[in-house]
Amino acid sequence: MNILGIETSCDETAAAVVKDGRQLLSNVVASQIDLHAKYGGVVPEVAARSHIEQMLPVVEEALACAKLDWSGIDGIAVTAGPGLLGSLLIGTLTAKTLAEVKTKPLYAINHVEAHVYANFLDTTSPPSFPLLALVVSGGHSQFVLFQDHLNYQVLGQTRDDAAGEAFDKIAKLLDLGFPGGPAIASAALRGDASAFAFPKAKLGHDSLDYSFSGLKTAVLRQAQELAGLDHTAPLSTLSAELTNQQKNDLAASFQKTVVDTLVDRALYAFEKYRPESVVIAGGVAANQLLRDELKRRLPIDINYAPMQLCTDNAAMVAALGYHYAKAGKAISPAELVADSALKM
Ligand code: KG4
Ligand code: ZN
Repeated sequence: MNILGIETSCDETAAAVVKDGRQLLSNVVASQIDLHAKYGGVVPEVAARSHIEQMLPVVEEALACAKLDWSGIDGIAVTAGPGLLGSLLIGTLTAKTLAEVKTKPLYAINHVEAHVYANFLDTTSPPSFPLLALVVSGGHSQFVLFQDHLNYQVLGQTRDDAAGEAFDKIAKLLDLGFPGGPAIASAALRGDASAFAFPKAKLGHDSLDYSFSGLKTAVLRQAQELAGLDHTAPLSTLSAELTNQQKNDLAASFQKTVVDTLVDRALYAFEKYRPESVVIAGGVAANQLLRDELKRRLPIDINYAPMQLCTDNAAMVAALGYHYAKAGKAISPAELVADSALKM
């Protein structure tokens, strides 16, 4: 069964064709990074306009790369949320129009849930159930236990910032570039992770919730101290007062604290729920230190999805769409609603 996936929840316009939830026939991603870099973050209005321009060419390219025409497509899966509303509207409007015109079944996909499905793509050893997923993206940070496809329970999550959001905010504070995650990771390679001992949020030993807002404030205060500025100085002047080495050390110490927090909680979740497999999902799953530390500290073999399937793409949406199709979860075009606050 070939599912066309469509993804426009944030700043990537993406379409992909996946066979039987596993085999990547095509995977096209038009990134808007260059458009947003000069603003230091995603500008919703700019993102939506760019989706409008890119959407149809990207869908056509996904079909062409898969060497299929519409007769070879068995259904359309589209991200319905969560995400930026203006961006989601372009993907959902495209999908419902195509479903209507091409008379294809339509599946409304949760973007966060879809991230987990990157781990089922193009692998000879897909994860087995029960499956513990650490979802760490720009908007989400949560532990989810899957008993089977479409049958899951959220075990714990961040109380405030998502992991990726924390990376992005600290990268902006230190003026390291956009997107923040890769910028911090590369600065950290030149920094000393033990330079600063930042606090790991404790929300009780037996809780799978965690928090990154205290860490963010701690990095800010440390940066202000290094720069010799008091708490009232404008943040925009801060990075200019820091040396590159100080920024690299702050980035490395910050990254280590985020990774230690996540891996500590992952270890606790693993011991409590004893899953058959563990996966990480979402943009922060591309972080090499997180990958290395999880592998080192968890007593289980972890197969990581390739980096390009961790960040936003439509293949993961199509992969999950296959399971929606098997479960008979098609909806009519009229029922498809973009929901920016959709929860797992
Ligand atoms: O899953 P994703 O592409 O989009 C959302 O659904 O949010 O995740 C984007 C997030 C951004 O916050 C970005 O800074 C972060 O993933 N990210 C990383 C890395 N690559 C992307 N964070 C840490 N290390 C990375 N290598
Ligand atoms: Zn995402």
